[in-house]
Amino acid sequence: STKIETLPDPFKMVEKELQPFSDSIKELVSSDQPILSMAAKHFFEKRHGKRFRPTIVQLVAKAVAAAPPEKIVDDDGKTISADLLEEHSAVFEKIGGVSGWQWSGASSVEVDGGIITPDNHEGSDAWRRQAQLGQIVEMIHVASLIHDDVLDEADTRRGGEAVHKLYSNKVAVLAGDYLLARASVLLARLENTAVVQIMATALESLVAGEIMQLKAPPESLLEMESYLRKSYYKTASLICYACRSTALLGGHSYGSTVATACEEFGFHLGLAYQIQDDILDFTAAASVLGKPALADMDLGLSTAPILYAAQEYPHLRPLVMRRFKEKGDKQTALEALYKSKTAMNKAKALANFHAQRAIDAILRLPQSEARDALIRLTHAVITRKK
Ligand code: FPP
Ligand code: FPP
Ligand code: MG
Ligand code: MG
Repeated sequence: STKIETLPDPFKMVEKELQPFSDSIKELVSSDQPILSMAAKHFFEKRHGKRFRPTIVQLVAKAVAAAPPEKIVDDDGKTISADLLEEHSAVFEKIGGVSGWQWSGASSVEVDGGIITPDNHEGSDAWRRQAQLGQIVEMIHVASLIHDDVLDEADTRRGGEAVHKLYSNKVAVLAGDYLLARASVLLARLENTAVVQIMATALESLVAGEIMQLKAPPESLLEMESYLRKSYYKTASLICYACRSTALLGGHSYGSTVATACEEFGFHLGLAYQIQDDILDFTAAASVLGKPALADMDLGLSTAPILYAAQEYPHLRPLVMRRFKEKGDKQTALEALYKSKTAMNKAKALANFHAQRAIDAILRLPQSEARDALIRLTHAVITRKK
């Protein structure tokens, strides 16, 4: 077996590609409304965060360049064959896909200049588009964070004041909208309708996830499945759709094994990341996280650790269902969680399970430095402390 530290460092590998990221994104989000530019730029300069998503997009772009495209276009060159559709819907069923989602359009993507290989990838049109996609994904992500902090009434983000604290709720709403609008323009500029459709669906999922969280019926608050579905919508969807889109921009067709493997990778990685995020909410300090800690229960949310604790201690169940509304509820739940010898370990095991599935999916791509860096990144996601 290979030691994880011997695999290539994911962040080092894309350092060069992410270098121009800040400058070009600043330009991309500049507006003649200074307050909008300011609010938006803020999160692409000093407080740019971990840039997880653009890193993943870059690495997936490199990894799929090492996979020869499959010839699977139908006779008319337009529709996807039935078994591919079936394979695809099986994945979606598993992950609870998006309501009303239906693919209509061409199944393969022409890449100018022919087939992409690791040798001609850098500097190619595909490569430029994939880099743009990384920026678009980060813009969508930041837009959702700006709105999220309004919804969650969270005052800090990325180690500083949230946009709505720096300015106002009104400005924060508009700044998020503005970023989303800019992201849409850039998305259209990729001139790939499949990718536009997929990424627009990602936006739909983000909103669906937030609504689910806001309006969940009390009984569903106890269900692990509802928790996971919500996590898929609000977290994993953006990254899994971005991974599939990256494969498409690299010349792989919609239903190809490569595109599906990428999406599955993103799906499981996103879930692992969210579960780890929810664990850290209990185990890390706000000063380390750069955002409020123990925040989920304040919002009435039960995540994996609490759900496992409630399975062990039935007296927690009514508290979960009433979203810790009554005085002393949070304290009671915390005490039970810390007393439990298994709840936290089970949550950890759940994160590990999804990390392993992410690795299994990416291993379906041919070996490459980038693929191995993605494996190391997956490991980092579940061992991270902030
Ligand atoms: C902030 O993102 C946190 C969230 C948006 C909540 C959940 C997001 C994830 C769990 C990430 C999705 C999955 C992957 C694998 C990237 P962040 O922790 O990335 O924050 P940052 O952009 O400020 O670093
Ligand atoms: C962070 O989760 C928030 C999200 C992952 C998604 C937020 C989505 C919206 C507000 C819908 C609107 C979408 C767009 C594109 C504008 P969290 O609150 O669990 O994480 P945190 O601890 O980082 O705040
Ligand atoms: Mg939040
Ligand atoms: Mg939230």
